[in-house]
Amino acid sequence: MKLAVFASGSGSNFQAFAEAVEEGRLDAEIVLLVCDRPGALVEGRAAAKDIPVFSFDPKAYDGKAAFERAILSELKKKGADFIALAGYMRLIGPVLLGAYPRRIMNIHPSLLPAFPGLDAIGQAFDAGVKLTGVTLHYVDEGMDTGPIIAQEAVRIHESDTRETVQKKVQTIEHSLYPKTLQQLIEKGVNVK
Ligand code: GAR
Repeated sequence: MKLAVFASGSGSNFQAFAEAVEEGRLDAEIVLLVCDRPGALVEGRAAAKDIPVFSFDPKAYDGKAAFERAILSELKKKGADFIALAGYMRLIGPVLLGAYPRRIMNIHPSLLPAFPGLDAIGQAFDAGVKLTGVTLHYVDEGMDTGPIIAQEAVRIHESDTRETVQKKVQTIEHSLYPKTLQQLIEKGVNVK
């Protein structure tokens, strides 16, 4: 699998993919990092691993279709056949959805369909739920919608703070995302 990872921020999930590839737990090659926030921490992580980066400022384009066409051209150059969104804080539009049908996966820090959108961990905390978690799903045109592939729960205890919940959620993310992608590869996801 030639994998492209999309991210906007710190990139700890990107790092988890890169380490899983290095350690032989993920039969994939990360051919490109796509980042919509030039200067984001994730770009440094990619540079440290010699992974090519396509960094772009969405405001420099005439709308989503225009920057997605630019992304698509980079993906094609690298031969990417699957996209993993890892903290890419932007909806995917028809250009990429049409080019990668059932080939785009997202990670979200809640048990979807609960708490979609921004700050899912804060939303769960404020709602007072005792269980939250992590969801992996295929991407469609909606916000954090699309068929669910895998979920894992995290218990919220009285003594937890947002920070401790976030830490527990991220620890699960870093193992669940590479593991689930590897399972898809082994099941023979038809990447072509
Ligand atoms: C992750 O927790 C991911 O689940 C979340 O952004 C974080 C990125 O962290 N994604 C969403 O909220 C998508 N709706 P990272 O940059 O350290 O990988």
